[in-house]
Amino acid sequence: MVKSSVLVLVSRLYSSFSWMSGVRRVLITRQVSVKALDIMRGPILGCESLDIDLIDSDEPPSRDVLLKRVAGKHGIYCLLTDRIDKELLDRAGKQLKVVSTMSVGYDHVDVQACKERGVVVGNTPGVLTDATADLTVALLLATSRRLLEGVEAVKDGSWGPWQPLWMCGSGLRGSTVGIVGLGRIGQAVAERIRPFGVSTILYTGRTAKQEAKKLGAQFVTFHELLAKSDFVLACCALTEKTRETFNANAFHLMKPSAVFVNTSRGGVVNQDHLYDALSNGQIRAAGLDVTTPEPLPTDHPLLSLKNCVILPHIGSAEMQTREEMAMLAARNLIAGVTDNNMPSPVHL
Ligand code: NDP
Ligand code: DGY
Repeated sequence: MVKSSVLVLVSRLYSSFSWMSGVRRVLITRQVSVKALDIMRGPILGCESLDIDLIDSDEPPSRDVLLKRVAGKHGIYCLLTDRIDKELLDRAGKQLKVVSTMSVGYDHVDVQACKERGVVVGNTPGVLTDATADLTVALLLATSRRLLEGVEAVKDGSWGPWQPLWMCGSGLRGSTVGIVGLGRIGQAVAERIRPFGVSTILYTGRTAKQEAKKLGAQFVTFHELLAKSDFVLACCALTEKTRETFNANAFHLMKPSAVFVNTSRGGVVNQDHLYDALSNGQIRAAGLDVTTPEPLPTDHPLLSLKNCVILPHIGSAEMQTREEMAMLAARNLIAGVTDNNMPSPVHL
């Protein structure tokens, strides 16, 4: 008890000293790119320097490590695997100014709690839009055209002579595609699928979008989208409203021939219900880049299904994209600790 009070006192004294000397202490929760680290190492306009506490590992830190190392920091550079909640913000202390996540999704950050504590939040929109949209289309085609089943058949010897009806999937030409969440990634996906000869693009979200006009996309209700689409693509943010929106009711409304693709967050899907829908033929197939949990245990029931293609959350996994995300997150962090406007703040 006495020991911990002394520690708190020492940490507060250290905190005020660093503040006066213009040093800002930041926690980086994982190995980051050398270029991003270089810009954080300075020189930095607006403060003497950053005192960087780098968790130099490619594995996520344990909760205990995070809670310990965050104490007394002015800034946190985190990844989507780090839960930034009230407890962590309180452990950080009142001097905390900024949480910068190297991701566009910020469902792991309690943005409201940050706001209440005067902590600004930054994310990395835009720089990963193309990479994620490309991956969404790749996953859509891999799922609808049964690419993984085909590869498996080549390897296990079940590939026989050419047959008219073997390994047939469904094509995009003349189809109706429904996009749930016509944000940056949703729009980039719509642009990419048009040239495949898609006949109708439907979308849903909180509000109709200006940008939808030039994409020729029609705003409909979630239910109408599910009932009419041959391909249903989840490109929305994970929020309390979107959590498990893809559940038994949703799969029930879809066509039995529908293909469902999710590159948003695993939390938008009820995976038990998805398993049932895929195994009892309520929908044809699913392609998931995101799951709950991540990584998905290798004995998870979804992995036993031929009509479910699962990727390990690689939507933005393109070298240049990851570099740009790391740099943008670094710039957000620097702006936040030096009281400047961030290049990309999250607005509540
Ligand atoms: P945007 O903010 O541009 O788009 C988010 C979309 O979510 C908006 O269209 C928004 O609709 C929609 N949305 C929010 N609430 C709802 C709701 N209740 N019902 C339906 N739609 C809703 O973000 P991005 O396009 O840049 O990224 C989207 C998400 O993709 C990220 O939040 C992240 O989770 C995920 N992502 C995954 C990646 C991967 O590796 N698989 C890579 C990058 C991102 P409206 O505008 O009407 O509010
Ligand atoms: C994000 O940025 O939200 C992705 O999930 C990872 O790039």
